[in-house]
Amino acid sequence: MKNVLVTGGAGFIGANFVRYLLEKEPEVRLVNLDLLTYAGNEANLVDLPNAHNHIFVQGDIRDAELVEKLFADYDLDTVVHFAAESHVDRSILGPAAFVETNILGTFVLLESARKHWQGDPEGKRFHHVSTDEVFGSLGPDDPPFDEHTAYDPRSPYSASKASSDHLVRAYSHTYGLPATVTNCTNNYGPYQYPEKLIPVIITNCLQGKPIPVYGDGKQIRDWLYVGDHCDAIYRVIVNGREGETYAIGGNNQPTNLEIIHTICEVLDDRLPNSPHAPHKELITFVTDRPGHDRRYAMSIDRIQAELGWQPTESLATGLEKTVDWYLANLDWVDDIRNESVYADWMTKNYGKR
Ligand code: NAD
Ligand code: DAU
Repeated sequence: MKNVLVTGGAGFIGANFVRYLLEKEPEVRLVNLDLLTYAGNEANLVDLPNAHNHIFVQGDIRDAELVEKLFADYDLDTVVHFAAESHVDRSILGPAAFVETNILGTFVLLESARKHWQGDPEGKRFHHVSTDEVFGSLGPDDPPFDEHTAYDPRSPYSASKASSDHLVRAYSHTYGLPATVTNCTNNYGPYQYPEKLIPVIITNCLQGKPIPVYGDGKQIRDWLYVGDHCDAIYRVIVNGREGETYAIGGNNQPTNLEIIHTICEVLDDRLPNSPHAPHKELITFVTDRPGHDRRYAMSIDRIQAELGWQPTESLATGLEKTVDWYLANLDWVDDIRNESVYADWMTKNYGKR
């Protein structure tokens, strides 16, 4: 890869991937297209390795003219597509943006890639970053999802991601677009916007606010440290088979309550004199998420066998690193908390519960 378009590179996983790639491929020219929605943050892009190779463009993946221009100006050979509306609760309260960005935005990117790479697919790759949520919800005794699991999305978010996955595969099958898809489980780590479970726990604990547990808290997610996800995506782009899907997961499947307790213990250890310790006393059960998926788990057999990838971070060490990152970056947290868009969301989502 020489000229890489990363979409959504100012968001949580995208910003981690931009760092990863600039470090791993110091010669690459990386164009980072991000609209800077509430979830995108230029502060996620300070102190990049090889920053001279990073070109940030604030813009919308739905803007066909802009996307065309980027393909033409930068002779793009690789697209790594992260940009999306990503939060399930927001998709329940306002699905339109999910349809527009996740489906139509992906369509715009695919059209440009098709046009610019037609007849010359050699050395090109369109990589679409997707989620395990397209597969629906597992019962307690079901085997984990894998690449053959039938799609069964159940929230507006997962339905929009499923739709974008289908479009990518259709372009690969119909037009021979050199594409790959990854479906990954829940990520955690540095730069995650404090609307998702793990940063909500950490940031609420720091303020002595309730830790909101949806329903009975016995839902299960398969957690993966974000750095391991970046490494998996890179391997798929470099060595993954065109037209294929790779499932990615963390081999960690605690209940939400278990993960909350673990984080509270790490915080108790790091902040023994906090007026809010023991932090588990902040746990508060609230009204469940409508249509809440009960259990996710992912088999990583294919990516392990074909590309030699497996998670390197254990949940215990990954959570410690994550808590330590938030404690070391309180300004980053405060800047977000001081934005009205953040306060509005907290009131809108949690006020109703
Ligand atoms: P995020 O919400 O933190 O970041 C999304 C980024 O996309 C933001 O920087 C935002 O500004 C940008 N964006 C949104 N709409 C845009 C538009 N129209 N044009 C350009 N940029 C736009 O999301 P994330 O958690 O980093 O997730 C990134 C991708 O990975 C998403 O596609 C998501 O579906 C997928 N994914 C996430 C997880 C997870 O656990 N977070 C797991 C599996 C897959
Ligand atoms: O599985 C991959 C998906 O993981 C990604 O595709 C999504 O982009 C990402 O947001 C994430 O979705 P989840 O809905 O699983 O993540 P979230 O952090 O919102 O919630 C994790 C679990 O915690 C879920 O069971 C809901 C619960 N929860 C969440 C919040 C925000 C709570 O109990 N309380 C909360 O305040």
